[in-house]
Amino acid sequence: TVPQLIDAFARKFYYLRLSVTDVCNFRCTYCLPDGYRPNGNTNKSFLSPDEIRRVTRAFAELGTEKVRLTGGEPSLRRDFCDIIAAVRSHSSITTLAVTTNGYRLARDIASWRDAGLTALNVSVDSLDARQFKAITGQDKFLQVMAGIDAAFDAGFSKVKVNTVLMRDVNDIHLDAFLDWIKPRPIQLRFIELMETGDGAELFRQRHVSGDAIRRRLLALGWELQPRGRTDGPALVFRHADYQGEIGLIMPYAKDFCASCNRLRVSATGNLHLCLFGEEGIPLRDLLDGDASLAALKLRIAGGLQMKKQTHFLHQGNSGSTRNLSFIGG
Ligand code: GTP
Ligand code: 5AD
Ligand code: SF4
Repeated sequence: TVPQLIDAFARKFYYLRLSVTDVCNFRCTYCLPDGYRPNGNTNKSFLSPDEIRRVTRAFAELGTEKVRLTGGEPSLRRDFCDIIAAVRSHSSITTLAVTTNGYRLARDIASWRDAGLTALNVSVDSLDARQFKAITGQDKFLQVMAGIDAAFDAGFSKVKVNTVLMRDVNDIHLDAFLDWIKPRPIQLRFIELMETGDGAELFRQRHVSGDAIRRRLLALGWELQPRGRTDGPALVFRHADYQGEIGLIMPYAKDFCASCNRLRVSATGNLHLCLFGEEGIPLRDLLDGDASLAALKLRIAGGLQMKKQTHFLHQGNSGSTRNLSFIGG
């Protein structure tokens, strides 16, 4: 039997989120409003495909079944297909997903699929081209939409979309989002804005709970679905008249962290036990050869014992993380 990653609160970890770069070409208001600024990192600072193969092998042998590639914008890596292939070289990793801003999707999705990608999450914060540009700093709404169509054409039967909820920006357009997913197999997830160190002012202005949306969905006949062991944190709702689904990600909800099933590795090879609030445990010194595999597994499993029960954001722990681009949300 496969040894398992279990923490002090009996949570099991089947899902690794692996950031492959800090670099991003968008400037989302809630993440990198001033754009990406290199903080001494160069391409060589980020894990190579070989290092990625080794770190994901350790996780695979510890029971990980699903890996998500994040960033920054992961597809800005020129060796992105090699990275995909490196992760999929372990047969027990059956789901390999990417979270992307969609910029390269139309051009590259077929090659990502051929390299072994199995699932896709795309950020779309607005269905209005002008508002999309105002939020992301890039006039790429149509390009991203074409990318989502290209994913369906490439054989992805379902695409997940991330929409960061912002008061009076997009929470007022629920109907347009619902119309969009009615004929499309899209799982559209509203994510509550999280307070980061760089984003305190935006948080004060724009944070809105997902509860109002939950109540409207229930009133419209949407039904909450059960959750699988490698699923992300979204509450998923379905409706008989819609091909698409709606998800709600509410990190400020009291029990949000009770179902945490994921660990993170940053683009420079630090293990992060939570999205918020710690330095990370360096793994990179154990990634330069295959011989360190046993030590690597021990460090990961040992480090996990320090994972805290929750992020404590609802108790005023906000802002400890500068922005989410370095660890991929
Ligand atoms: P799937 O549902 O399996 O596709 O995965 P996911 O929802 O975890 O993936 P995705 O990268 O699309 O995550 C969407 C967003 O949810 C992230 O960018 C984060 O903003 C948020 N999120 C995901 N996991 C966590 C978590 O552990 N803690 C917090 N606070 N937010 C999270
Ligand atoms: N609050 C909520 N979600 C965020 N993301 C990045 N920053 C934040 C934040 N401050 C998430 C979004 C985006 C993904 C790449 O990261 O879900 O789609
Ligand atoms: Fe880039 Fe994603 Fe951050 Fe937007 S949320 S700036 S797309 S890393």
